[in-house]
Amino acid sequence: MINIVVRQPNEAEFEDVRSYLKKFVLDSSEATKEQFKVLLYDDKLAAFGRLKQRKDGTELCSIGVVEEYRGKKLGEAIVKDILSTINTDVYLVTVIPNFFKKLGFKETKEYPASLKDKRENFCEYHHPGDCVTVMKCSH
Ligand SMILES: CC(C)(COP(=O)(O)OP(=O)(O)OC[C@H]1O[C@@H](n2cnc3c(N)ncnc32)[C@H](O)[C@@H]1OP(=O)(O)O)[C@@H](O)C(=O)NCCC(=O)NCCS
Repeated sequence: MINIVVRQPNEAEFEDVRSYLKKFVLDSSEATKEQFKVLLYDDKLAAFGRLKQRKDGTELCSIGVVEEYRGKKLGEAIVKDILSTINTDVYLVTVIPNFFKKLGFKETKEYPASLKDKRENFCEYHHPGDCVTVMKCSH
């Protein structure tokens, strides 16, 4: 039987997460080990993500699934696990809104100012031509 564990990463796992953030062009700014959760699939790092406490709101970001583990609902699992740990509104900026719609997020036009900055200076910069959407999950 497959063993799935979700927990905070250790130092070595966090270093691997940092490599994947770079590879998948995900947000690594101000990243600390404590913000992250990793999903281990039979003891192998398969998925990760974090909550970033901004001065004006909470952001879900840096969500990724290692290529060979995609399509197994592990992306969904890590997001659900992270969301289960908080009871405040959560925002995110994404070019794949349909993935997050299934997880309770809705497109929003009103969001923290710091996310406007991320939208313009990170997401639109790295995904020129893609539609960048800000979403909110209400609690
Ligand atoms: C996006 C990503 C996290 C999805 O992980 P995954 O484990 O393959 O996804 P899941 O198996 O949990 O998929 C859950 C559902 O979302 C859908 N989905 C998966 N990737 C999707 C995408 N890129 N766009 C829209 N829907 C997607 C699946 O089809 C599935 O739908 P279903 O329930 O109707 O079958 C993964 O492809 C990834 O790491 N991509 C690169 C990094 C990235 O884009 N991160 C998000 C930045 S905002």
